Amino acid sequence: MALINENYQKLKAGYLFPEIGKRVREYSAKKSSRNIIRLGIGDVTLPLSPSIVKAIQDAALEMGTMEGFKGYGPEQGYPFLIEGIIKNEYNTRNISLDSDEVFVSDGSKCDTGNIQEIFDANCKVATTDPVYPVYVDTNVMAGRTEEAFDDGRYAGIIYMPCLEENDFLPEFPGNKPDIIYLCYPNNPTGTTMTKETLKGWVDYAKKNKAVILFDAAYEAFITEPNIPHSIYEIEGAKEVAIEFRSFSKTAGFTGTRCAFTIVPKEVVGYTRDGETVPLNPLWNRRQTTKFNGVSYVIQKAAAACYSEQGKKEIQKNINYYMENAKIIKESLSKLGYKVYGAINAPYIWLKTTDNLSSWEFFDKVLHTVQVVGTPGSGFGASGEGYFRLSAFGSKENVLEAMDRFKSL
Ligand code: MLT
Repeated sequence: MALINENYQKLKAGYLFPEIGKRVREYSAKKSSRNIIRLGIGDVTLPLSPSIVKAIQDAALEMGTMEGFKGYGPEQGYPFLIEGIIKNEYNTRNISLDSDEVFVSDGSKCDTGNIQEIFDANCKVATTDPVYPVYVDTNVMAGRTEEAFDDGRYAGIIYMPCLEENDFLPEFPGNKPDIIYLCYPNNPTGTTMTKETLKGWVDYAKKNKAVILFDAAYEAFITEPNIPHSIYEIEGAKEVAIEFRSFSKTAGFTGTRCAFTIVPKEVVGYTRDGETVPLNPLWNRRQTTKFNGVSYVIQKAAAACYSEQGKKEIQKNINYYMENAKIIKESLSKLGYKVYGAINAPYIWLKTTDNLSSWEFFDKVLHTVQVVGTPGSGFGASGEGYFRLSAFGSKENVLEAMDRFKSL
């Protein structure tokens, strides 16, 4: 008898974004209203920039020749991309890394979801609340939780509420975690952590022999100084942190798929007997067994992001999205909304009005002004009463959406 993994039955509702998509489809099937403006999922809308397209074309042509054809590549990524990553993302911030500390992958969603496999099933997991749902759901699937409570929280997870009162920054949990997920700049709140605050987390992890899983997918959107782009800007972080980075939002690769994860040789876990074990070989073993690498063509495309021209083109797109973020933040603030984020991240986190729940506000915005956002409660119980707008739409749509909000 093929018994199922019953942990899947603990999962609440569907994954957030398909659920939103379903509600929007149901609404648009019933009503033939004006166009719906989608500022829900954080999916990029600008086309791939010319340097990236050229790299894809060149690599595809190369693959069509006897000399240039490539079969399986290294599971960890091609050296040309790994060198580009180390030089441009880390050496520029005085961080040194060896090439075997970088693992190229097809996305941070997969990596942040898969990384928990290298930890014991009994590890205590701490996440911020609200949180990118992948961190929690993958731990539910792996059996690290009990059933969910009515508010959607799972027994067994240590939730660290991030609210207006604490500037959306987690406080050190009293109940000691073994694994700590942090995402900064933050999805969904769009807020950030200073170097001093992050240093506190590195020290906390060291003291408690915990590992920080640091998702920095939005670091390219930072505009203010003293906000760390990488956790390894903090002294000692290599001993306790794994970092996830992505080309998805930075360079428009949500459909193209390329990301990377840094597992320093210093970062360790422990056996039940207390023996110290480096995590780098474990992740390498996991990837070489379950992953065959990102295609050569796409890794060439990612490497093109580091050419002088590529860098300019990518920055132009990032500026475009951040201009949208500014428009949304300013427009909604003028209308009297309490608005957060949008300065170092492409997300705007706002408080719903009239004490509406997140889903009530979602419905009101969809039905009244035909704009799609993301209900804050979809990111966790502490997101209740909040709503997220993404800055990844077109400027025209953002302006139109803000105009429509006036009549909400
Ligand atoms: C989001 O909207 O939170 C992101 O697009 C989800 C993702 O990156 O997978």
